[in-house]
Amino acid sequence: MANIVLVGAQWGDEGKGKIIDVLTEKSDIIVRTQGGNNAGHTVFIGTTKYVLHLVPSGILHKSKICIIGNGVVVDPIGLVKEIEGLLSMNVQVAGQLFISQTAHVVMPWHKELDALKESKKGSNKIGTTKNGIGPAYSEKADRTGIRVIDFIHPERFKTLLKNKIEEHNETFAANGIPTMDFDEIYNLYSKAAEKLKPLVADTVTLLHEAWKQNKSILFEGAQGTFLDIDHGTYPFVTSSNTTSGGACTGSGFPPNRIDKVVGVAKAYSTRVGSGPMPSENEEISNHLHGLGREFGATTGRPRRCGWHDAVATRTAVMLNGIDELALTNLDGLDTFDTVKLCVAYECDGIQYRYVPSDITVLERCKPVYKELPGWKTPTTAIRSWDDLPENARNYLKNLEKESETHLSIISVGPARDETFSV
Ligand code: GDP
Ligand code: IMO
Ligand code: MG
Repeated sequence: MANIVLVGAQWGDEGKGKIIDVLTEKSDIIVRTQGGNNAGHTVFIGTTKYVLHLVPSGILHKSKICIIGNGVVVDPIGLVKEIEGLLSMNVQVAGQLFISQTAHVVMPWHKELDALKESKKGSNKIGTTKNGIGPAYSEKADRTGIRVIDFIHPERFKTLLKNKIEEHNETFAANGIPTMDFDEIYNLYSKAAEKLKPLVADTVTLLHEAWKQNKSILFEGAQGTFLDIDHGTYPFVTSSNTTSGGACTGSGFPPNRIDKVVGVAKAYSTRVGSGPMPSENEEISNHLHGLGREFGATTGRPRRCGWHDAVATRTAVMLNGIDELALTNLDGLDTFDTVKLCVAYECDGIQYRYVPSDITVLERCKPVYKELPGWKTPTTAIRSWDDLPENARNYLKNLEKESETHLSIISVGPARDETFSV
């Protein structure tokens, strides 16, 4: 029995959904602790594809308890839609899914403000998902947000909503955005509140009771290390702590009860949205897009692709305390004559082994590559380390050494069984 925090070790979309699905088998409870429906976690069961945005990926296993923790920002309309989508695919949530009463709610003005702020930034835009994540967390930090517990009490919600609409309509009017109508929003959102009310719980106590009963808890990170509000490539980040510490604050589960941190990374690198990415590479981008791969699970945008950045993975290992690394999408590199591993950055004659936090330096960093022979063999049917081509094992050993951690899981395809332990 172990309590595991799983984090993305790159810029998001590392394949966390798939690895969560694999680890869920040995877990009792799966918890989302930060982010919102900016996340898109893909899980394949057989040939059926599921993309989870707010609901923990563990929901696809019958009888596992899934929690949306206090650190998440919940779009109630999006969540109801997601639950209905799951029901239409015969995935039940009743009795399995619980929402923290102290999570904050994403409201329509958050999405409008997200789009407005981005449009005002022009070429400096972050490239957000426009799901209102930043403005929802801003209001939370400003102590003027609406929490789930208030949202599901009609009178409390009414009062808060009136004040908020009044406040934001002034900004909307000043920016030529159509103002919001109280009745329209109240009617729409109170219907969602009615539907979600039976799922709302004191999830902190629920987790504590589960811990007392020796249950295994799996914390499902969203986004990735370099999108962390404190440790990422600020300001090109999301608005929550995506690193392992966020799992504790975002759930109320104490750090001394976490047994292990598992990082997830791709065999190469991807990023959606703006911001520095030193190992970005056109050849690998074109190759993967040509295969129909690396399009965003939430927005459908093509992801920027590059060689595996071991400087980033090494930094992620340091920041999160990653004990084990699950490496996905090894098959994405199957056809290259040579594969490259970024082992250091260079800027102004200085070599960096860890990602520099000064973005003006990072933006000018050039990758230092170790070039290795490719394996030019399909790996998707392989199910053991020993059966991998020698050059693939050599690449993975180099990646493991440079990242300063242990490889524990290798994924060679999107499906549940296209995975093996090292
Ligand atoms: P997440 O946000 O970290 O859960 O990752 P996404 O679901 O956004 O993106 C990962 C993509 O890689 C999805 O399309 C997965 O189905 C896919 N995937 C995960 N692991 C593998 C793998 O080993 N091989 C292949 N071909 N696809 C994979
Ligand atoms: P998962 O959990 C990849 C990126 C956006 C943008 C920045 C800020 O699927 O790995 P936001 O809407 O959060 O304010 O956008 O963060 N971003 C992600 N990129 N995967 C994600 O989630 C992401 N969630 C946000 O593209 O650059
Ligand atoms: Mg994703």
